[in-house]
Amino acid sequence: MKRIFALFFALCLLAGCIQIAAGEEIPSLKDVYAGKFDFGAAAPRKAFQNMQTMELMAEQFNILTPENELKPNFVIDWVKSKKKVLETGDQTAVAVHLDSAKPLLDFAKAHGIRVHGHVLLWHIETKDEFFHEGYVVSAPLLDREQMLGRLENYIAGLMELLEQQYPGVVVSWDVVNEAIDDGSHALRKSKWYEVVGEDYVERAFELARKYAPEGTLLYYNDYNTAYPGKLKGILQLLEKLQAEGNIDGYGFQMHHRVREPGMGMLTNAVKAVAALGLKLRVSELDVGVSKNTEEDFQKQAKKYADVMKLMLEYADQTEAVEVWGLTDNMSYRSYEYPLLFDASCNPKPAFWAVVNPDAEGGW
Ligand code: GLA
Repeated sequence: MKRIFALFFALCLLAGCIQIAAGEEIPSLKDVYAGKFDFGAAAPRKAFQNMQTMELMAEQFNILTPENELKPNFVIDWVKSKKKVLETGDQTAVAVHLDSAKPLLDFAKAHGIRVHGHVLLWHIETKDEFFHEGYVVSAPLLDREQMLGRLENYIAGLMELLEQQYPGVVVSWDVVNEAIDDGSHALRKSKWYEVVGEDYVERAFELARKYAPEGTLLYYNDYNTAYPGKLKGILQLLEKLQAEGNIDGYGFQMHHRVREPGMGMLTNAVKAVAALGLKLRVSELDVGVSKNTEEDFQKQAKKYADVMKLMLEYADQTEAVEVWGLTDNMSYRSYEYPLLFDASCNPKPAFWAVVNPDAEGGW
């Protein structure tokens, strides 16, 4: 008997998440924020192989973002794209697939959960091949027109596939991620910048608008928005995008620590972006702490509460708040225990702070 129990326990551990507080009813964040904004999380592919994380997602969230699986490297079929160019001689050819995102998209569709698409253009997680003739890095870079053609086919192909297989599931997209440089606060000198030129962000939004189903919300997404220099660069870009009318909102990543950034700076940044009249979302919220102690978890909870109180002030403009991951051990910052649930899927003080941000501590 003992042996069977040990085996069961080991299997649970392998599955990655044991609901120690089994049976305990906890509030659902999507219900807590109903009528204000969506509450969601980023989820990695492995979360869809685990019953407990699947239950957690279905109970807690009404919007999900694939942590990686809709990034360019994951949706572009590199072998087929290369083959297509070879066969047709058309440098703009692109082949896309949804194989990596399928578990999340199927789950969302089955549970009536909305999906936020992340991300069409990013200087990271996009192979250099994408910018070269024949998808061969040693070949010359494409020229501007070829690259815009490839971008158009990529966006059009992806939107078409999603509409065919998951109509209405993806409600919004990060069109471009992290285009503003931390040092210069101007556009980052990425491959996109090098090949297409200064207006590549505008062109990406134009194409996303052209091919995304009507009503899809299009966002620019970035980090360190609270820091005044970066904020200035971001605001300038947002104003340029607004002038062309293809952007709907701004995504604040918010990968925070307890003291950084300070709430004063963050409040100023949210106020400044909100003043542009754009929709807002907190796209990647997490708060790192040094130790997994009750003391640190209370400080972490306070930061979560402060962020929620701030976003509640802008509830009319805010579409969603999403945490970047499900449980501490699944986070890309797992060494900083940054999320709402511990490795056993138990709610942490930070969870209770999100449920009740107005409480004065003791979460
Ligand atoms: C950025 C990206 C996310 C994720 C995190 C962590 O914030 O937008 O997709 O990759 O970095 O690596």
